[in-house]
Amino acid sequence: MSHPMPRFIALIPAAGSGSRMGVELPKQYATLAGRPLIAHAVATLCAHPRISQVLVVLAPGDRHFAACDWGGCGDKLVPLYCGGETRAASVFNGLLAANDAIDGNDWVLVHDAARPGLAAAEIDRLIDAVRGSDCGGLLALPAADTLKRANAAGEVLQTEVREGLWHAQTPQMFRYRMLLEALRRADIAAVTDEASAVEQTGVRPLLVRGSTANFKVTYPEDLALAERLLGTDKK
Ligand code: C5P
Repeated sequence: MSHPMPRFIALIPAAGSGSRMGVELPKQYATLAGRPLIAHAVATLCAHPRISQVLVVLAPGDRHFAACDWGGCGDKLVPLYCGGETRAASVFNGLLAANDAIDGNDWVLVHDAARPGLAAAEIDRLIDAVRGSDCGGLLALPAADTLKRANAAGEVLQTEVREGLWHAQTPQMFRYRMLLEALRRADIAAVTDEASAVEQTGVRPLLVRGSTANFKVTYPEDLALAERLLGTDKK
């Protein structure tokens, strides 16, 4: 189906097991401020007027998603039960599954289920900065701390030059056709974010300033931090 104006479609890979959280329940379903972790990003993206659809890529056999209360998300929310072995495989499978409903020129904003602190203003900032470019782009933050490279014994091998280094966040925004082709060509097991697959094709995605509140919940103690940030920053 071809649309006269490229649309903005969110895709949330949520098929991980969250092993670093040390819990049985996959990380995306851990409770954060009374709701599953994933529900925060889903709600923000579904409520955004410029986002036309929110695709959520789930592990085949996921029983948790359907049991959550998705009232208020309307018909923007589309679960796809085709997650893969890695995050990049989940994204690739989700893009393929949505092929008939997406135009090659549509923009796809891939966002981690485990980043509950995404704000509507950041989505706008990313869209406004990237939509005029053919290279795509991503939210990111300049590295603030001095960075050390470690050896296998956990000793400092060397101090890295911090200048020009950024922490990649999400959403990462690319044209559907470009992202699909980049992932098809990439060594999928080695891809840790969408931008790196696109970079391998010789394209230079744009870095758009994100925020500290948009951090990725990774370790158990991160839940308490995210709760505090949601309580203050998203009022
Ligand atoms: O594990 P990590 O925090 O890096 O995962 C980032 C995102 O990728 C999470 O939303 C997670 O659910 C998702 N993921 C996935 N399929 C996998 C592994 C991770 O969709 N096989």
